[in-house]
Amino acid sequence: MTGRNGRCTAADGGSAAARGWASLPVAACLVDGEGRVIEMTSKAEELLGVSRRRLAGRPLGARLVTDPPLGELLARAGREGGDLVLHDVDATLPTGQGLSLDMHIAPDPEQGEIAVVLIPRDVAERIDRSRAARSLARSAIGMAAMLAHEIRNPLAGISGAAQLLAMGGDGEDRSLIRLILDEVRRIQDLVDQVDEFGDLRPPKREPVNIHDVLEHVRRSARISYAAHVEIGDEYDPSLPPVLGDHEQLVQVFTNLVRNAAEAAPARDGRILLRSYYERQLIVPGGDGRRLVLPIHVEVIDNGPGINPEIVDRVFEPFVSGREAGSGLGLALASKIVAAHDGAIEVESRPGRTVFRVSLPRADG
Ligand SMILES: Nc1ncnc2c1ncn2[C@@H]1O[C@H](COP(=O)(O)OP(=O)(O)OP(=O)(O)O)[C@@H](O)[C@H]1O
Ligand SMILES: [Mg+2]
Repeated sequence: MTGRNGRCTAADGGSAAARGWASLPVAACLVDGEGRVIEMTSKAEELLGVSRRRLAGRPLGARLVTDPPLGELLARAGREGGDLVLHDVDATLPTGQGLSLDMHIAPDPEQGEIAVVLIPRDVAERIDRSRAARSLARSAIGMAAMLAHEIRNPLAGISGAAQLLAMGGDGEDRSLIRLILDEVRRIQDLVDQVDEFGDLRPPKREPVNIHDVLEHVRRSARISYAAHVEIGDEYDPSLPPVLGDHEQLVQVFTNLVRNAAEAAPARDGRILLRSYYERQLIVPGGDGRRLVLPIHVEVIDNGPGINPEIVDRVFEPFVSGREAGSGLGLALASKIVAAHDGAIEVESRPGRTVFRVSLPRADG
């Protein structure tokens, strides 16, 4: 919103820059050093209930009475020369209607202009809630990892004691002890998973042949959890290497293939591993770069599809539709894919579930 070339007022609203401003998807006004309106977006017209033409050249503070007063806020932002972000500001419109706003005031000292972004609290609260959910998830994972760590020692004690008991017990005792040991092993597996989830090391960034990864996963799947399903492939043999970490990518596809095998029907269960090249997927990276992810791998199964009640949350930790599931498989997969600057998505309907992982190429 800063660094515009030349001024354009609301009255000359036909210019390209003015049209660009008008269509910004937020309520925002551009004011001069005295707080008079130069330009505003359509969303701001809606929020303030006044057209750009009517307000142009007039003080924004006359239309929007805030506590603290807008003049004071603009002067402060101008003085300090940096952006001012305010939460939960009480505002009143000339109609008497009260509003609660978050405001972002961004001065552009070069142009002598100030951008004022107005976010009504109902919208702001939605953003806050999703932020809160993310930080809650993060701290839940931290707690879980700590707990996992602390559970290990007593568990080892229980398992050792049970093994000793097994030596002296009779038949019935032994079967009960076997049960204890089995359950202890289950908890140990769970603890391992949570631990792994908690401290994922940053991935290596080296060229990886994704078909080697898939073949590795397919080999182990066939002799264990996916012995009952047919695993076919449709590989693009000309695919260039991806940029990543072989071991971690094995973890990703192991989780996807394991889920697919668990979902596939006992009779005629089928999984298809598919790879292809397509430059279309461009996503924003964390640091403002645009990332091109041209290498795609799909894990497709013919199971009943993901339960619609959880389909929007399957990548969140501890979301599971299975009785014995920990709900960490997909969360771990998506965490690893994100650390690779990649993307993971899912499309699911009865009879066909597709998990697609998109990755950068090594020489991209
Ligand atoms: N291919 C699939 N078809 C149908 N449902 C699926 C599929 N993949 C995942 N799901 C659903 O998503 C849930 C979450 O999967 P996720 O792998 O994260 O956890 P989980 O398999 O329950 O436990 P675990 O931590 O042992 O992997 C599953 O419980 C299942 O309900
Ligand atoms: Mg799983």
